[in-house]
Amino acid sequence: MQAFFEGKYVDLADARVNVMTHALNYGTGVFEGIRGYWNDTEEQVLLFRAREHFERLHRSARILRIGCEYSVDEMVEICVNVVRDGGFREDVYVRPLAYKSALQIGLSMVALTPDGPRLVEDEFALFAVPFGNYLDIEKPIRCTIASWRRVNDNMIPARGKVTGLYVNSSIAKTEAVEAGFDEAIMLTHDGHVSEGTGENLFIVRGGTLVTPALSEDILEGITRSTIIQIARDELGVETVERSLDRTELYIADELFLVGTGAQISPVREIDGRIIGDGGIGPLTGKLQDLYFDIVRGRSPTYRHWCLSVHEQSVAQRA
Ligand SMILES: Cc1ncc(COP(=O)(O)O)c(C=O)c1O
Repeated sequence: MQAFFEGKYVDLADARVNVMTHALNYGTGVFEGIRGYWNDTEEQVLLFRAREHFERLHRSARILRIGCEYSVDEMVEICVNVVRDGGFREDVYVRPLAYKSALQIGLSMVALTPDGPRLVEDEFALFAVPFGNYLDIEKPIRCTIASWRRVNDNMIPARGKVTGLYVNSSIAKTEAVEAGFDEAIMLTHDGHVSEGTGENLFIVRGGTLVTPALSEDILEGITRSTIIQIARDELGVETVERSLDRTELYIADELFLVGTGAQISPVREIDGRIIGDGGIGPLTGKLQDLYFDIVRGRSPTYRHWCLSVHEQSVAQRA
């Protein structure tokens, strides 16, 4: 079984929604993306910072007024069950979704009842699929500044991982790919750097890391906070969170995108301007080495971020 749908563990092919589903029609869902890394020695998948992802799902749901039937702990357990019972022996991507499941025409998320307004029904679903790299992590990628602006917090809050919001990312990503780039970088409504279509962004300037502040219509990325922490604690490099001009990207010493999907993807070019010498910058390289050791469960200090899908060791399971 690779999915959890309407309260049951099912095959992915059987996790299907009705065409009238509110979330399908109006984008009223919130979601997450969690990576599970295959660990050869332990012969199991390690889920990276799963709890933090479900905590964020609960926060996104609160913004959108979606009820969560399951607690964070229960969601973690469902996630572990799906990945373990899916029998994966490779890297996986887990997609949890909480969405308005009401079958209705009409935008409102409340139904008017004789007892007063009541929020319409919600569902929680989760599935896992095998997944490799989303962006290149070895060969630096080419980016463009999107002609589409990032949605503003008072339009659709980027802080909440809302399904409907991803039209904004999808349209910008498509534009970039059609123009021959790997990824688009989005600017806020007032022209500051926000983020990639599915990644947060860091630059290196004069030995310091700089990343757009949380007020720049970004998703509060879990990888972003991982990078800030390991750069400080392992490399003694502080990160400045502030608003960032577009031209600061053009003159950066190093630039990279981070996210669960992207991991750490170095950028070689933005709209024809080469970043640094066009290769993987020294700080980017060090962060990549640290990050991949951590997510694959090879770093004892950060092992608590990796959740094993099997409670027993390989020997006990044999
Ligand atoms: C728009 C956007 N920004 C940033 C991120 C990175 O967030 P995280 O590191 O929590 O995966 C994602 C990916 O989920 C995203 O979709």
